[in-house]
Amino acid sequence: MSGRYKELEYWDSRYEEEEQLLTGGHEWFGAYRDFAHLLRRELRPGTRGLVLGCGTSSLSAELHKEGVRPLVSIDYSPVCIKEMTQRNAGVPDMSWMVMDARHLQFPDGTFDLVIEKGTLDAMMVDEKDPWRVSQDTIALVDEVLSEVSRVLTPSGCFMSITFSPPHFRTQHYAQPKYGWSVSCDTYGRDFHYFFYTMHKGRQLTSLDLDRGQSLYKSYEDLEQTSTLLPCDDEDFLNNIQI
Ligand SMILES: C[S@@+](CC[C@H](N)C(=O)[O-])C[C@H]1O[C@@H](n2cnc3c(N)ncnc32)[C@H](O)[C@@H]1O
Repeated sequence: MSGRYKELEYWDSRYEEEEQLLTGGHEWFGAYRDFAHLLRRELRPGTRGLVLGCGTSSLSAELHKEGVRPLVSIDYSPVCIKEMTQRNAGVPDMSWMVMDARHLQFPDGTFDLVIEKGTLDAMMVDEKDPWRVSQDTIALVDEVLSEVSRVLTPSGCFMSITFSPPHFRTQHYAQPKYGWSVSCDTYGRDFHYFFYTMHKGRQLTSLDLDRGQSLYKSYEDLEQTSTLLPCDDEDFLNNIQI
């Protein structure tokens, strides 16, 4: 993914270009049929859904066909939302809104299902070292996840579809404050993608709790190391024989 995937201007101009070229949109991380079996496990009659960073993907249309209604799809690109609103004009129980995933304008407990595909990846694209994610990115992802947790019902479910494997991604999701458990499946043939399912109202395993703690631990370690440095310097000075 390119570093520009974090910028709204990039997505607006990309969707404008797609519109002009009539490409019909780009599908990230494979076709719906590749992961539909994982998603269907969680669907119940009357599931109310929210798609975060919908882009021009067919995911929203597929969810609507599965009976996820009402279904709201948001993206912070006005160009994308205008295009998707026009394409789906007149479809009942389906709405499209320009909205930032960090500030969801819905009351607490509005949705049974929240799903994102590639949106968090786009937000994390600047990271050079997935083992030690910057504090800015940790905070950015936390803003989104806190909002997702807030708008979910007490037994709701969050799905996240990404190319990021558990040793990098689970640490973000496995925070007790979100009030959910984390599980991960893979799909795809040549290249494997990851399908995370977070269930509200269920406990994190002790392994996932440890993973969640490791997100902040690398910074605590760093702080401890840097507070030790002056002593190291003093030892070094003491050892100089003048
Ligand atoms: C990699 S694309 C994925 C699009 C779509 N979900 C798919 O699977 O094809 C990332 C999408 O996230 C949107 N996005 C990025 N940051 C966002 C934010 N803070 N709030 C809402 N949408 C955002 C972009 O405009 C873009 O449409």
